[in-house]
Amino acid sequence: MIDLEKIPEHVAIIMDGNGRWAQNRNLPRMAGHNAGMMAMKEIIKAASALGIKHLTVYAFSTENWKRSSEEVSGIFKLLIIYVEKELNELHKNNVKVRILGHYDRLPKEAVKSLERSLATTKDNTGMQFNIALNYGGRDEILRSVKNLAMKVEQGSLKADEITEGDIADNLYTSGIPDPDLLIRTSGEMRLSNYLLWQSAYSEFVFSDVLWPDFTKEEFEKAIEVFQNRKRRFGGR
Ligand code: FPP
Repeated sequence: MIDLEKIPEHVAIIMDGNGRWAQNRNLPRMAGHNAGMMAMKEIIKAASALGIKHLTVYAFSTENWKRSSEEVSGIFKLLIIYVEKELNELHKNNVKVRILGHYDRLPKEAVKSLERSLATTKDNTGMQFNIALNYGGRDEILRSVKNLAMKVEQGSLKADEITEGDIADNLYTSGIPDPDLLIRTSGEMRLSNYLLWQSAYSEFVFSDVLWPDFTKEEFEKAIEVFQNRKRRFGGR
């Protein structure tokens, strides 16, 4: 049973296994991403109903550009379809959308859809749905360091006074609490350049279920596992 008093504030997910799900059914990879999008919709609803404050999903990494151009453009088309179909529902549920990553490098149409979702939901006060898009953890830390170095160069910051807070404030996630729980599906046990800085003290839960099969029940199971962990943050 989930303890409603101990709901994680921030849950981050690596939605892995769409390709294998499709392959198992002799379907094209895009059918897997399509099914993955449906799973994502269910998990957003479930997370919001549980009172989770931040749900962050890894939708497209800086490394995903290496996939076939057909798959890359397919994922962005899916993203546009998702925003067209779901924006009203997200807005109705008071969900606020935020993008983590260099999303202006995406195809124009996708950028337009994303900006519309940001503008429509900007004043919402419910769950924040963070979509990591063209996101890479090392790239993010590098950008933060460059921003700070620039300030040092300009003389507005002293190098030996830089704090962890300064680095965090210059990440895409500035203002977002670190993830309490990080879930990766499909049996893979890697971080794959996701939220490297932010996951320093996150609890990791790995599920063998392929992302398109990841239901509300599976999500709730992961939260129960989280609730049974003892978090020490380096202390005793
Ligand atoms: C990982 O599975 C999944 C992705 C890289 C794409 C994630 C996209 C979605 C869940 C749906 C679209 C939603 C948005 C917001 C764009 P994989 O392809 O790496 O699976 P595999 O490891 O089995 O090949």
